[in-house]
Amino acid sequence: MKKIKKVGVLGCGLMGSGIAEVAARSGYETVVREVTSELVEKGVQKIGGSLGKAVERGKLEASVRDETLARLSGTVKLEDLADCDIVIEAIVENLDEKKKIFSTLDEVVKKDALFASNTSSLTMTQIAMFTHRPDQVVGLHFFNPVPVMKLVEVVRTLLTSEDSYERAFEFARSLGKEPIAASDNSGFIVNRLLVPYLLDAIRALEEGGGSVEDIDKGMHLGCGSPMGPFTLLDFVGLDTTYYIANIMFDEYREKRFAPPPLLKQMVTAGRLGKKSGRGFYDYSKK
Ligand code: CAA
Ligand code: NAD
Repeated sequence: MKKIKKVGVLGCGLMGSGIAEVAARSGYETVVREVTSELVEKGVQKIGGSLGKAVERGKLEASVRDETLARLSGTVKLEDLADCDIVIEAIVENLDEKKKIFSTLDEVVKKDALFASNTSSLTMTQIAMFTHRPDQVVGLHFFNPVPVMKLVEVVRTLLTSEDSYERAFEFARSLGKEPIAASDNSGFIVNRLLVPYLLDAIRALEEGGGSVEDIDKGMHLGCGSPMGPFTLLDFVGLDTTYYIANIMFDEYREKRFAPPPLLKQMVTAGRLGKKSGRGFYDYSKK
């Protein structure tokens, strides 16, 4: 099995920054690409902040943080990913954007590299067909926050080779994650169950079933969920949840995946959750 040495990550938002952090921390030379130099700087700072927090909490030696940061670089140039052994895409959840990036990557990155996507709801088959190397395309679905959540769903399509799949599975393990095999259905294993639950919480709110705080408290204290559904929705991003719901509804045509009107309104009004300072909760003063 060919050894992975250099990792490329596309997007340094919520998920890309976590994936790049974990890859660099696991000893891989890592390069993360954003669309502007301001976003590269912001993303790399976010990674530095997260590693700094781990040092403060006594989870990480300061020397390991420094070595991790030394293995990490940010860029706006896709060409800087040309010699990566694996490229993991974590850009916006939109098929056209993923098509653009994967067809360009296919031209730029060396022929034997693996391509992975962190997509939440698109099928990997669609994404694989944007390249001339569908046998080398897999899903690597990480969970938020990436440095903490242990799971990675590893997804193969009908066209993924055994060697690519095994390399991806071993790579996830080498990041200290617990990989599981998921089939290439929209939402894979976890989001197929989680997304209807989150959307149902919004529907319960719309129908006057309880307040945001009480619904959250109910699931947190009554069921032991670390976060109630509205805290989790704000954490994931309401824009991302809205894109995911639309994609899953298109795929399955089942009401449980349909985005509730309130979700659409909140996204339209710019209330995207924690990342924008306001979602179901107000984070502007925290
Ligand atoms: N980076 C590194 N470490 C972090 C961290 C971060 N960003 N955030 C928290 N931690 C660590 C802390 O050091 C702490 O470690 P110890 O317990 O060993 O001391 C641990 O994680 C817990 O952190 P906190 O005590 O600060 O906070 P918490 O107990 O409230 O836990 C949480 C935070 C882990 C995020 C927890 O609330 C949780 O598990 N929430 C649910 C998250 C979830 O469901 N994620 C999935 C989202 S869906 C998805 O990702 C798929 C999709 O496609 C949309
Ligand atoms: P985000 O909005 O926080 O970050 C996306 C980043 O990608 C932005 O910073 C944007 O500037 C950048 N970007 C856009 N086009 C790009 C390009 N062509 N090249 C490089 N960077 C580009 O979104 P996110 O929450 O990190 O989600 C990213 C992906 O991960 C989505 O596919 C999403 O479904 C998936 N995902 C999200 C979560 C979550 O909890 N938010 C969990 C698992 C998977």
